[in-house]
Amino acid sequence: MGFQFQNKVFLAPMAGITDAPMRKIVFEETEGKVSLVSEMVAINALSYKNAKTYKIADVREEPYPVVVQLMGGEPDLFYDAAKLVTDLGAVGIDINMGCPVRKIIASNAGSYLMQHMDVAAKIIETTVKATKLPVSVKFRKGWDSEHINAVEFAKMCEQSGATYITIHGRTKTQGYMGSADWNVIKAVKESVKIPVIGNGDVTSPKSAQEMFEKTKVDAVMIGRAALGNPFLLKSIANFSDKQESLEPTPKHIYQTLLRHMRYLKEYYGEKVALGLSRKYVCWYSKCFYDAKKFRENYMKITDFEKAMAEIDSYFQKQILGENI
Ligand SMILES: Cc1cc2nc3c(=O)[nH]c(=O)nc-3n(C[C@H](O)[C@H](O)[C@H](O)COP(=O)(O)O)c2cc1C
Repeated sequence: MGFQFQNKVFLAPMAGITDAPMRKIVFEETEGKVSLVSEMVAINALSYKNAKTYKIADVREEPYPVVVQLMGGEPDLFYDAAKLVTDLGAVGIDINMGCPVRKIIASNAGSYLMQHMDVAAKIIETTVKATKLPVSVKFRKGWDSEHINAVEFAKMCEQSGATYITIHGRTKTQGYMGSADWNVIKAVKESVKIPVIGNGDVTSPKSAQEMFEKTKVDAVMIGRAALGNPFLLKSIANFSDKQESLEPTPKHIYQTLLRHMRYLKEYYGEKVALGLSRKYVCWYSKCFYDAKKFRENYMKITDFEKAMAEIDSYFQKQILGENI
C-alpha cells in the first residue's frame, strides 16, 4: 500500500501566519486532527544561515508533526536544505511550486517552476535523494488561462519521486482572485497514483465535503478561511464523523485568543508579538459587537501587558452578554 495521510484535513502553509504559535493553537483546538505545514522557508537564505529563516525551519521544539515547506529555484541548494530541515525536526518536506509573488518568481522559484518543468523535476529528484522523509509538491492549475498544465505537472512530480502533491485550483495570474477550479483538481487526482490534496475555496464543513465528493481527493487543505478561525478547522475535521458544525462560544474564542497571545510572546518576545497580534485580534473579534472601536483602540497600544488588558476588558463584556 502506498503512502497514506494521518489526517484528511491540512492547514495550508501561509507565510507570516502559519508559524509555530498558530500551529500550536491549531493542533490543540483540533486535537491533532489537522496536519500542519510551516510557512515557506527560502532556501537561499537558509544556505547563508539567516537567523530568521533558520528559526522558521527549526521545528524541533514542537511536540506534533510539522511538514516544512522549502522555496527556491536552484536545484543544487535543495540537497543541503533538505538535509538540514530533516535534522531540524520536519516530518516531511513540501516544495513550493505555486507562489505567485513577483519577487519569488524573479528568483526562479514558486510558480515560475510550472513553466520550467525540467528544473522542477531536478529540484524534486535532488530533494528526494537528500532525505528519507516524504517529499511533496504544492503547485497551481497553471501559469495563466492559456497555460494550464496541472495534469502534466502532477505526472512529472510523481515520476520525479514525490510522495504526494497538493494542487491549488487557481492559475498564477489569478493570484487569490476568482474561484478555484475543482475540475482541474479532479483531473489531477485521476492522472496520478500518489495521494492528492485539493486546495482552494474550502470554507466550511459543507464545502470540504463537496470537494471530497466532486474531486475524490485524499485530503483537503484550507488556507484563508482558517485565519483567526482554528474552530472552523475543528468543525471540518470532525464533520465527517458527526455531520454537524461546531460553533465556538464567545468565552472559548476569548480564551483561545489569550492563549494565542501567550504563544506569540513566548516565541517572539513581547515587542514582535504585539505587532503580530494586531491581525489576530481583528480576526478573532470579527463576529463581536462594536469590534471596530475595539480594534481601533487596540492598534494604538504599544505595550504588551496593556494589550492583554484591553483584550480582557473587551471580551469580558462580550462574554457577560452586556453588548451582544
Ligand atoms: C497570506 C497568505 C500567505 C501564503 N503563503 C503561502 C506559502 O508560504 N506557501 C504556499 O505554498 N502557499 C501560500 N499561500 C497559499 C495558500 O497555501 C493556499 O494555497 C491559498 O490560500 C488557497 O487556499 P484557500 O482558498 O483555502 O485560501 C498563502 C496564502 C495567503 C493568503
